[in-house]
Amino acid sequence: MVATDDVPVIQLGVEDAAAGLVLSTEAHWNQTEEDWRVFLHQGIVFGIRNGSQLVATAALLPYSGENAWISMVLVTASQRRRGFATRLVDACLEAARKRGLTSWLDATPDGAAVYGPLGFTPTLQLRRLRLEKSGQALAPAPSAAPRDALCERDRRAAGFDRTALLSAFAQRPGSRIISTKGAIALIRDGRTARHIGPLFANDAADALALVDAIARSENGPILLDAVASQDAFLAGLTTAGWTIERPFQRMRFGPATAAGEEVPFAVAGPEFG
Ligand SMILES: CC(C)(COP(=O)(O)OP(=O)(O)OC[C@H]1O[C@@H](n2cnc3c(N)ncnc32)[C@H](O)[C@@H]1OP(=O)(O)O)[C@@H](O)C(=O)NCCC(=O)NCCS
Repeated sequence: MVATDDVPVIQLGVEDAAAGLVLSTEAHWNQTEEDWRVFLHQGIVFGIRNGSQLVATAALLPYSGENAWISMVLVTASQRRRGFATRLVDACLEAARKRGLTSWLDATPDGAAVYGPLGFTPTLQLRRLRLEKSGQALAPAPSAAPRDALCERDRRAAGFDRTALLSAFAQRPGSRIISTKGAIALIRDGRTARHIGPLFANDAADALALVDAIARSENGPILLDAVASQDAFLAGLTTAGWTIERPFQRMRFGPATAAGEEVPFAVAGPEFG
């Protein structure tokens, strides 16, 4: 690793949303500029510039109950292995420490190589799945559900409240909260694909039925991030034509906080938890 302590870590502002999007797009991630605005408005985003170009980022998004999510750890390809990610994640951890927050993140395999040495410990495993769809939707959208119902189910699963985040998602023009039987999910726009999550259900059959209803009402590619321990759900998705793109490892830095009362079938996304 080349010493880079002379390159300052700065805190980014909402005017950096477009530059952040350039970095996440370079990594072929699905975030939109609106997602960047969530981090820049509700969280603390650190960055490193090379001249005027933003070349590296990491975000800390505080939630309730002394929890925070670290994400958007991105370094442009030409600037990697110079310690930038390590310094930016350190800045997030220091900001979390000052606020007494336990930090969580969902790591790509590359990211896990950075976070392990910093003291993060693995918790649950996720799988990113994709359904390729093109052409006409086959069915109308399933019935809309109230935002409060989703927030309450999310709070039970996470063990803490994320109403601010889910409300921001729900207000976007392309977002819908839908439910069938005992299952409920949010679907929102992404840069290249629509994204389902979080998704809660009483059992795998109900979760699969809701995903199927959503898929039939969509006309483009869809992503979701399934909890890997939901074996029957994963098996049902792959049978239905979904393909596993990559694993994510959830990791925690700091003491365990309140445990959730149910395991979601799909999370809000690796960048949001
Ligand atoms: C993962 C990523 C953020 C790392 O950024 P970086 O600035 O190169 O990381 P650092 O220089 O701080 O690396 C610190 C250590 O992590 C490990 N590491 C980093 N990248 C690695 C890789 N691709 N493979 C194996 N180990 C790696 C090394 O031990 C490295 O120390 P070393 O260079 O002295 O060997 C960058 O590769 C990236 O943007 N990847 C695409 C997006 C992504 O996956 N982000 C992580 C999301 S969770």
